[in-house]
Amino acid sequence: MKKAATSAPGKVILFGEHFVVYDKPAIVSAIHLRARVEAWIHDHPGVWVGNRRLLNHPASRAMEYVFEKTGNTLGVRLKISSGIPSSVGLGSSASISIASAGTASLITLGRIDKELVRIAAIEGEKIVHFNPSGIDTSIALYGGGGLYTRSRGFTPIVIPLKKILIIDTGKTRRTGEMVKRVREFMEKNKERFNDILSREEELIGEVIDAFRGLDLERLGRLMLENQNLLREVGVSSLEIEEAVKLALNAGAYGAKLTGAGGGGCVICLAEEDKIQEISKIISRRFKVYLAGLSAEGLREEEI
Ligand code: MEV
Repeated sequence: MKKAATSAPGKVILFGEHFVVYDKPAIVSAIHLRARVEAWIHDHPGVWVGNRRLLNHPASRAMEYVFEKTGNTLGVRLKISSGIPSSVGLGSSASISIASAGTASLITLGRIDKELVRIAAIEGEKIVHFNPSGIDTSIALYGGGGLYTRSRGFTPIVIPLKKILIIDTGKTRRTGEMVKRVREFMEKNKERFNDILSREEELIGEVIDAFRGLDLERLGRLMLENQNLLREVGVSSLEIEEAVKLALNAGAYGAKLTGAGGGGCVICLAEEDKIQEISKIISRRFKVYLAGLSAEGLREEEI
């Protein structure tokens, strides 16, 4: 194709971030905010934005990987537009990597080769992450909701929640640094870290059970326990703790950081009829979004 466009969703990790890096399961959902990547064949090899060659960027790395694997020496001009706030844990970078690889796949093969796109996007993510588990790229690719394990990959599951309240602490951070912070905790506290991993794995089983009966109170308690484990390994922050407290005081059943932590976003769980009121209270202090869950994964767009 001479030109192509795709879009991919952002995500919220409902349970299990960081521990997923150590091959424990995590539960993730795509959200309705999306990134779109358009590309046109260009005369010069490489990936270009305007007159500038894009180098050392997840989008260009993901596209060039697709070109290399399909034996192309193509050049493209690129336009990225994203409705996903960046560096706050909502998967903006992974969705740009997936949409870039998806667009490159359309240009070179005339179709989306999902496996090629998945691997190309992980290559792109390695530029900005340290040791990515692949959860962010998987959910941006497949969409919906899923249980993700590093060694077993993505298994779709039905997330019985339609929406979730997201609180943005307004503080950005780098995922790679937060992943390194957890590694440091692990190196200094090996035994305790193993206990935390075991508890997290059990907790995910309990979440799946609570999903079946849509037991929001139990899910809220599990969220708080997950938040306690994340705090212990060093990825919470003053703003996150403040947002969690605010949500609980406003009547939420539970809240926790989502994504890498250290700032970024907090998700909070409440009865549907309380969400508006809780959102109003929190919005006096933080930006809040009500995000639709189980959004569609990578898709071709009109250009
Ligand atoms: C980031 O969205 C999720 C982390 O678990 C990192 C990863 O899994 O690659 C913090």
